[in-house]
Amino acid sequence: MKKLVFNSFGGNEVLELTESTIPQVKQNDVLVKVAYAGVNPLDWKTRNGEMKMVSGKKFPKTLGTEFSGIVTEVGKNVSGFKPGDRVVGSMGMHGGAFSEFVLKSPKDLVILPKELDLKSASVAVVCGLTAYQCLVKKGKIAQDKKVLINGAAGGVGTFAVQITNILSADCWGTSSSENHDYIKKLGCQHPIDYNVEDWLHALEGFDLIFDAVSKLTFQQAKSKLNKGGIYVNTLPGPGIFFQQIYTSVFSSKKAKTYLLKFDPQDLQWLFNKMLEKKIILPEISVFPFEQIADALELSETQKVKGKLIIEIDSQLI
Ligand SMILES: NC(=O)c1ccc[n+]([C@@H]2O[C@H](COP(=O)([O-])OP(=O)(O)OC[C@H]3O[C@@H](n4cnc5c(N)ncnc54)[C@H](OP(=O)(O)O)[C@@H]3O)[C@@H](O)[C@H]2O)c1
Repeated sequence: MKKLVFNSFGGNEVLELTESTIPQVKQNDVLVKVAYAGVNPLDWKTRNGEMKMVSGKKFPKTLGTEFSGIVTEVGKNVSGFKPGDRVVGSMGMHGGAFSEFVLKSPKDLVILPKELDLKSASVAVVCGLTAYQCLVKKGKIAQDKKVLINGAAGGVGTFAVQITNILSADCWGTSSSENHDYIKKLGCQHPIDYNVEDWLHALEGFDLIFDAVSKLTFQQAKSKLNKGGIYVNTLPGPGIFFQQIYTSVFSSKKAKTYLLKFDPQDLQWLFNKMLEKKIILPEISVFPFEQIADALELSETQKVKGKLIIEIDSQLI
């Protein structure tokens, strides 16, 4: 089977599409033939070596956090999955979804509703779950709360704007001005151009600031929050960890950071909203497996509108 690997940190020149053997199924495993795999900023950050603290320094490494596909084999202890099931799943921080087959534990997989196709479902795992969990679980979003989403046109932001609307909060969002129509269509009532100098200056009174692209600091956000307000970002690191602990005790305005957790119930909530057409999918750009470097290059510009995915086997339906 074809699989993406790399043997040193660097640019796209380190990536290799290699042939390797299909993994052997042990008693607790599920083998999945991958149809589509989502591209996320985590992929090029890991390739560059920015995520060494999580990825470690041992090679070969691989990339790809989320996938959709079809179960081809299950171990003898596995219940709830059988060959032929259409699933989505997470590879966690260590990746591996850019591969023709993946071997997973059942806890990292969810069976797809029959109405959802494999391509659409593959984009919901990382961006959808991150947006949902940051807003609902960390951000305590609620009806009529005033919410700012920084990075509303990206993968996470696209879901975040729509979830904010579904939960009847007042949605403010940043993007470049050329994406204002896009985020308005998603339900952002107050688009803001983050390229305008000091764009944050005139804003105030937020109950929740969700920094989906982690370009603000808590210090910048703090004066824009109401008492009891929450700032959540998506980039765990020493600074925000310290602020999280400090503000949990000493401030009415809370700083939080978050690492997504694969949660079948949360994913089911997202799928239901997709089926009810309350969540429309981000604009999807599909790249063949052989052009994975082009997809990573585009992702690295941090100008992607919507979501990039890699087509590994389009014959699977
Ligand atoms: N903690 C976790 O578990 C977790 C999970 C998923 C993602 N993440 C992280 O979350 C971040 C966002 O992920 P993503 O998939 O949404 O990324 P993405 O799709 O690549 O984001 C691209 C978007 O970012 C916007 N953008 C770029 N610079 C900006 C700025 N200075 N201010 C506001 N918006 C800006 C761009 O808007 P315009 O094109 O309109 O300029 C573009 O639409 C990444 O850093 C990723 O690593 C973390």
